[in-house]
Amino acid sequence: MNQNEKLRDDILNLKKQRNAIILAHNYQIGEVQDIADFVGDSLDLSQKSARTNADVIVFCGVHFMAETAAILAPEKTVLMPDLNAGCAMANMITPREFSELKKKHPDAVYVCYINCTAQTKAECDYCCTSANSIKVVQAVPKEKKIVFIPDKYLGSWVISQTKRELILWDGYCPTHRRILPEDILKKKAAYPKAEVLVHPECTPEVIAMADKVLSTSGICRYAKESNSEEFIIGTEVGILHRLKKENPEKKFYPASELSDCSNMKLNNLEKILWSLEDMVYPITVPEDIAKRAKKSIDRMLEIT
Ligand code: 13P
Ligand code: SF4
Repeated sequence: MNQNEKLRDDILNLKKQRNAIILAHNYQIGEVQDIADFVGDSLDLSQKSARTNADVIVFCGVHFMAETAAILAPEKTVLMPDLNAGCAMANMITPREFSELKKKHPDAVYVCYINCTAQTKAECDYCCTSANSIKVVQAVPKEKKIVFIPDKYLGSWVISQTKRELILWDGYCPTHRRILPEDILKKKAAYPKAEVLVHPECTPEVIAMADKVLSTSGICRYAKESNSEEFIIGTEVGILHRLKKENPEKKFYPASELSDCSNMKLNNLEKILWSLEDMVYPITVPEDIAKRAKKSIDRMLEIT
């Protein structure tokens, strides 16, 4: 038995003993995706957290995702194998900035992308993910002014699809901003038959060159169902593991090899094992914040 097989064995045994489930985001490294009970996008993972019968959730993603699981499953123990796995975008709006924004637009409806802190979610009316942002914005009564935080690129995509006027915050994902229009042009020239699938966190210039704009699980579903055999993928490169695994006969090319989220890559098998051994690192959300944040998440789940 080699080192990785031994690690996998130990994790599976301990997982049984603890009645634990391992959830992994589509961007996690291959060995983490392969040992997970479920791999998905932010919406899938929050729904899974809310529904699981496990006592312990080992959450392999970034902090806001584990926090969302803790809000939706307060009776469960939610563990992050590495506490340093934050999301750069989630930290682009501070509580002080948010309260200034609210003073400026006191009568607006606040819609937050799930990539934000629990505290931000608690101050918002609706939460949304990349899979349902259009539906959520469409559910807000027409006469209402909407402030959309923190992702200005996702916000611009929603504006283009809903024709609603959104007030945007200047947040963005540094990983997706590394994908440039010239990258898409180069890959299209090299693989002219490939379909271009991108995430709505990409810049509007990149989105304008795409065949489809989808959440990470949306990209996986579409690639499976499409008759195309080649795809240029405009999102974080970790998703290529799942795409190749589920479609061994198809070809996938990253739009840019630089589109790498280092925080998403902090988890590995050793850390998952330590997490289960020592029950670290538990993620908790203060009750009053969790209660208010849950309202905005529940509204989203009702709409979808
Ligand atoms: P998804 O919800 O589409 O998986 O996106 C999460 C994310 O962080 C993308 O960068
Ligand atoms: Fe956050 Fe971007 Fe990493 Fe997604 S890819 S977790 S938005 S920093």
